[in-house]
Amino acid sequence: SAELNAALEPLAWLLGIWESDQPGDGSFSTIPPFHYNETLHFSHVGQPVINFMFNAFNAENKKPMHRECGFIRIQPGTNRVAFIIAQNSGLVEVEEGLLTGQQLTLQTHALARTSFAKEPHVEQVSRVIQLRPDGKLEQTVSMALEGGPLTQHLHITYCRRST
Ligand code: HEM
Repeated sequence: SAELNAALEPLAWLLGIWESDQPGDGSFSTIPPFHYNETLHFSHVGQPVINFMFNAFNAENKKPMHRECGFIRIQPGTNRVAFIIAQNSGLVEVEEGLLTGQQLTLQTHALARTSFAKEPHVEQVSRVIQLRPDGKLEQTVSMALEGGPLTQHLHITYCRRST
């Protein structure tokens, strides 16, 4: 496998496969609460880019649900990070933010969707991904729909898949 590009060293803690250790909590003002499982893949091919896939499943019947995939870039010499994301719902996003220690704080920088996307449209996403001192990865996602407040949609923790 390719040698890790030096630009990615600050994000090396993310690399590998992570699986939810217990079902995550989904919520939003407009929907009933739900549970889900999710597997995250972060890999690289020697470029200064992380490739990622997030695959979520219904916690009860295991059916595939939300999926997103994309690329992570870090502005060399800074702690500015960008996620370039495509979601199976028809949303595409650039999220940007900061890497602080082993915590990423991201917000929508640009967003587009299919012309026939369901309304109300997503207007803003904000997420925190962090490696906790106990070795678990944690992700919290909030979103705002057109004209509405930023409200939590997802909270989940993951363990590194043992190899
Ligand atoms: C609903 C956005 C990730 C599961 C929704 C809705 C939106 C949305 C706009 C519709 C809310 C409404 O109808 O008022 C997003 C965005 C995500 C994301 C932007 C990522 C950044 C996920 C993930 C799951 C998930 C990872 C895990 C399974 C659901 C479920 C609903 C829902 C079950 C309610 C039923 C439905 O409308 O399909 N989401 N979502 N979402 N989301 Fe997400």
